[in-house]
Amino acid sequence: MAYSGRFRAGDRVQLTDAKRRHFTITLTPGESFFTHKGGISHDDIIGQHEGTVVQSHLGGEYLCFRHLLVDHVLSMPRGAAVIYPKDAAQIIVEGDIFPGARVLEAGAGSGAMSMWLLRAVGETGRLISYEVREDHIGYARDNVVEQTGGQPANWDLRLGDLRDVTPEDVGEIDRVVLDMLEPWECLGTVRDVLIPGGVFMTYVATVPQLMKVMEGIRELGCFTEPRAWESLVREWKVEGLATRPEHRMNAHTAFLVWARRLADGTVAPKPQRRARK
Ligand SMILES: C[S@@+](CC[C@H](N)C(=O)[O-])C[C@H]1O[C@@H](n2cnc3c(N)ncnc32)[C@H](O)[C@@H]1O
Repeated sequence: MAYSGRFRAGDRVQLTDAKRRHFTITLTPGESFFTHKGGISHDDIIGQHEGTVVQSHLGGEYLCFRHLLVDHVLSMPRGAAVIYPKDAAQIIVEGDIFPGARVLEAGAGSGAMSMWLLRAVGETGRLISYEVREDHIGYARDNVVEQTGGQPANWDLRLGDLRDVTPEDVGEIDRVVLDMLEPWECLGTVRDVLIPGGVFMTYVATVPQLMKVMEGIRELGCFTEPRAWESLVREWKVEGLATRPEHRMNAHTAFLVWARRLADGTVAPKPQRRARK
């Protein structure tokens, strides 16, 4: 699977017209893609640089690029809602997903977070993804394979319930990322598999879920005081005197929760509030 260089047969290419409509094709020698402005020959694209314009037979102009991972994640088929890219970025950075890390993830869902994690851990790292639903595991596998061109050697996608997972099943884990309805039910597993100092992150959509998982982390007593936040991204229109924030944004996706595993037997100092004057 090529991520850069001139277009080759087999590449998935995004064509964008003057109205910013996107069409995705897989380059196949001898084939054509038909638009309302006539056909575009795949052979006219194969061998070209990314970022060039191809013309249809009736004079329509289409800008050609390969999909970025963000394009793939937002356009791929979904079994379950995906972690939105702005939140995936927070998880990679705040979750300190490093090259070579051993990461445990659940549920795999549509595979969006799996793709970001696989990129971040690199070839020397390892990602184990659990998914309890057979239909969802199919989406995750197909979406990842389509993006990477095959089953990544460092990805272990398993059908199963994370609540039943033991350290014997996964070995030592540096980072855990959960995206599911009831992550508090998996906290025992997270405690058992995460190494001291390991980072745990979870993603929950509603306030009751947030409260329940924060309380669950505190009750276990083997994590640092959890942090919770959300990320808001607002695009701007920048056009002379009309420069201003865009009217529309994805105002709420989900909350992010973060905690680190303490060494066994450690009691963290209680967070102290500043005395009132
Ligand atoms: C919102 S989706 C995850 C989406 C995924 N993070 C993505 O970005 O594509 C939640 C998934 O968690 C799975 N799930 C829920 N509880 C689980 C558990 N205890 N163990 C494994 N998977 C679980 C569900 O079947 C569902 O597919």
